[in-house]
Amino acid sequence: MKHLIAPSILAADFANLQRDIELINQSEADWIHVDIMDGLFVPNISFGFPVVEAVKKHATKPLDVHLMIVDPDRYLKAFADAGASHITVHYEACTHLHRTIQAIKELGCKAGVALNPHTPVALLEDIITDLNLVLIMSVNPGFGGQKFITNTYKKIEQVKGMSAVSNPGLFIEVDGGVNLQNTSQLVAAGANALVAGNFVFSSDDPLQTIQQLKQA
Ligand code: DX5
Ligand code: ZN
Repeated sequence: MKHLIAPSILAADFANLQRDIELINQSEADWIHVDIMDGLFVPNISFGFPVVEAVKKHATKPLDVHLMIVDPDRYLKAFADAGASHITVHYEACTHLHRTIQAIKELGCKAGVALNPHTPVALLEDIITDLNLVLIMSVNPGFGGQKFITNTYKKIEQVKGMSAVSNPGLFIEVDGGVNLQNTSQLVAAGANALVAGNFVFSSDDPLQTIQQLKQA
């Protein structure tokens, strides 16, 4: 399977969000990555339901919603209602992760778990068969435009190894500092979905940049 590209609208121009969504619609991107930050789990606040609903109104591609919030169970239904196709919660934010994952699936969404850079992949051993997606954070979550952490390659290989045995259809997604310098190595390590924010939206030609990330 060719790897998927998920541009993160955190790096879009919020005053021209419809334009940037339409750009993603026209591009070779597969998903639209939507970063939700609550100012508690991460030291930043992004945006909430009105923005997700507005994005959904114009998007022709699935919304890949990444919840960087404490106690995400409180808001799963609201994000599903707002148009999320995939909902990813953080391992570090869930006390009863298995219950949370089942709740996401019962809402009709694909369920993902994100791991912060310090969180070992081995902690997924007893949940991996229940997951549609694992999101490996390659920066500390909270901000776009940060430097890629190279330990990520090892973690992707570990997830790939686990998925080969117990969940071959798993999406292995990488988020943070993705660019054309690291894309092929990420894919070689086993990543099959790449999030890219600043690298896409700060480029001179975002359409072409998405195409290059897709072809890499
Ligand atoms: C970081 C977010 C990322 C961010 C990626 O906390 O989860 O999705 O938008 O942005 P770049 O690609 O600029 O690192
Ligand atoms: Zn994200």
